[in-house]
Amino acid sequence: MLDTVKLRKDFKIYENNPNMVYLDTNATALKPSCVLDKMNEYYNNYGVNIHRGVYNLSYVATEEYDVARTKVKDFINAKRSEEVIFVRNCSEALNLIALTYGEQLLNEGDAIISSELEHHSSVLPWQVLAKKKNLDLRYIELTKDGRITVDAFKKVLDSKVKVVALNYYSNVMGYLTPLKEITKLAHEIGAIVIVDGAQAVAHVKVDVLDLDCDFFAFSGHKMMGPTGIGVLYGKYKLLKKISPLYYGGDMNEEVDKYSVEVKDAPWGFETGTPAIAEVIGLGKAIDYINSIGFDAIHEHTFKLYNYTMEKLNKIKGITIYNINPELPIISFNINDVHPHDAATIFDEAGVCLRAGHHCAQLLTKWLKVTGTLRGSFYIYNDYHDCDVFVQKVKDAVEFFEKFN
Ligand code: ALA
Repeated sequence: MLDTVKLRKDFKIYENNPNMVYLDTNATALKPSCVLDKMNEYYNNYGVNIHRGVYNLSYVATEEYDVARTKVKDFINAKRSEEVIFVRNCSEALNLIALTYGEQLLNEGDAIISSELEHHSSVLPWQVLAKKKNLDLRYIELTKDGRITVDAFKKVLDSKVKVVALNYYSNVMGYLTPLKEITKLAHEIGAIVIVDGAQAVAHVKVDVLDLDCDFFAFSGHKMMGPTGIGVLYGKYKLLKKISPLYYGGDMNEEVDKYSVEVKDAPWGFETGTPAIAEVIGLGKAIDYINSIGFDAIHEHTFKLYNYTMEKLNKIKGITIYNINPELPIISFNINDVHPHDAATIFDEAGVCLRAGHHCAQLLTKWLKVTGTLRGSFYIYNDYHDCDVFVQKVKDAVEFFEKFN
């Protein structure tokens, strides 16, 4: 187990909220002081614009920005830094591909494969584009547990499919999508694979080369980095095929009255002054995660998950929806109680859970519920958090039994 007493000292939010039981990392992770300090270092010491200034401070800022890009490249094992584009968040990254690759290269009758396990950001850009361009949006049939399988994927795959857009890990169920096999099959018929990696980056070593995916998107804030910064990874040869979504400053080589020569990726896709402090902060979050290590993160969070599940399994009156997930997430409900009503009991005790459809309404509809309560574990959680959580589940069951 990680030494959470020591580790929590890195997170000022615990000092300011000593009774907080934070079980909502899959919505956003807490931020360690080193990330905030790094952002302040930028503002206080070299807080000027990048790429533009011909003076030393601008060189320093540009260097820090570029170093962060290299850290991201290594973090996801991309071949080259030019394949790393900074955007605002995972949603923006996923929309950007639909609005560029999808708009520019897909034609009427082409098919896209998605699933009911997707976050809205993974499916809605394609749903809207499908309507606009008369594309065929197909859904992989989920297993009775709610998983995506290679066999079910094969059933919707044919030569019309041009895009496969799937999550790496479901944000509600914590299930792993068998992406390597899916990508291999998709490539055999010439389709590209876009991965919503939002839930993966804080928990597992991402290796885009090994996955062989074509695009991979994630947000900084779910991996202890700042909000307002996200990453779109794209294979360089594909980035070369598409024109940018946004035009403006810094993204062009040459501008004439009736034409513009756009810079190569990634710069052609990053117009305007970027989120410099956030990019540099994200670089620091990567250092921080690496200093802990994914093996230790997995071991710690799954000890907490298993400990909690053992106790929850003994409680009558709750339904747990995700079976043996690959991420330490528990999606559940107090039977016959709306998750928002149940959430108030947890909130009163300082337990932070997410309640609702988790921006994945296709899944909550598939589960035939209005929503779920979701608890998720991370490095700063401890057994005390689990005990408080379990006690509150018991209290909630008891409380609502009186009404039903
Ligand atoms: N997408 C985030 C979640 O799953 C906000 O909670």
